Amino acid sequence: MKPLDPWGSGIIEDEKYRRLIKEFGISPLDELKHEIENPDIYVRRGIDFGHRDLDKWLKDARKGNAAVLTGIKPSGRFHLGNLITAQKLIHYQHTYNVTAFYTVADFEAFIDNHVPFEACIKYARDNVADLIALGLDVDNAYIYLQSQNTKVMKLCFLAASKVTNNMLKAVYGERSIGLYMCALVQVGDILLPQDEEFGGAKSVLVPVGIDQDPHIRLTRDIARKYNLIPPAAIYHKLLRGLGGKEKMSKRSPMSYITLSDDERTLRKKIFAAFTGGKGTSEQQRREGGNPEICSVFELAKFFFVKDDGELKEIYERCREGRILCGECKNLIYQHAAAFFREHRSKKSEAMELAKRLVKPRV
Ligand code: TRP
Ligand code: SF4
Repeated sequence: MKPLDPWGSGIIEDEKYRRLIKEFGISPLDELKHEIENPDIYVRRGIDFGHRDLDKWLKDARKGNAAVLTGIKPSGRFHLGNLITAQKLIHYQHTYNVTAFYTVADFEAFIDNHVPFEACIKYARDNVADLIALGLDVDNAYIYLQSQNTKVMKLCFLAASKVTNNMLKAVYGERSIGLYMCALVQVGDILLPQDEEFGGAKSVLVPVGIDQDPHIRLTRDIARKYNLIPPAAIYHKLLRGLGGKEKMSKRSPMSYITLSDDERTLRKKIFAAFTGGKGTSEQQRREGGNPEICSVFELAKFFFVKDDGELKEIYERCREGRILCGECKNLIYQHAAAFFREHRSKKSEAMELAKRLVKPRV
């Protein structure tokens, strides 16, 4: 099996998730599900499917020696793929009352997406305003830009001194030194909560998409060499694009919904999305649709239909041909629009604070 590609854009089929668990020693989440307090949608609905050392993290979090950390590239406005990561960061911050670290990955946005640092500031503020609107408690959070953090730089160099070219090649395949440097900066990010400034060794949970596992593995190896605690991770499946194929990514604008889309755009995108519907309504009434391959159902499942019973109802009505795609899209659009309206108003209130938290380097 090829190494996972944190800089790629392919989607992953269900079969491959199972193989990943086997080949890379990721633990299946199923066995641990019942131990997770107040499970969120992603855990309940099997969107989170794997972890590393989450069991240990849960214990340490209950003892009060833990943190949660994630990062997102400020290469644009948040899209729904970023929303998963953001909501998970916030959920674990609140549920376990731990400090949330948020990395604005501007080095990586610069190298991987060619976004200049000045533009990164603008997006970083927008992204942080989203986080606040989604409920991040800024009083128990540490938010920073990679390019402005000298502790991260120090940890990155320390990490780099334990890594050879062969190790990087084994984890990532042959890549530019620029991307390797981004990977090592990310190692620095993930080790930051264990720096003396934050009280030293502790359990750190990193909620991310499965494509980030190579970074986690590398960081875990390096942590051991410095007698730090190997970071824990909880992995979600990658969101498909609205076309049903590629992962939702900033690289293909028509395939994704951003948190800043207005209702008209949102409606347009949902109505144009790939579904599991049949060629004619007669056929669909007779044979039923297929929610498993439907990107509109995926929106309902990942984000917008919060009630498990209602989601199940939609699933069954689709399967049995008791709802057609037009009506279904409209229903899911209504849920989405309600979320977007509320989010927009909270975000506009959060913008001032976001500007204070994210400043250009002077
Ligand atoms: N590589 C991540 C991405 O592509 C961003 C990132 C940077 C990150 N530092 C991190 C994620 C630390 C988790 C933890 O989106
Ligand atoms: Fe998707 Fe709904 Fe159509 Fe079923 S009825 S295929 S869930 S849009």
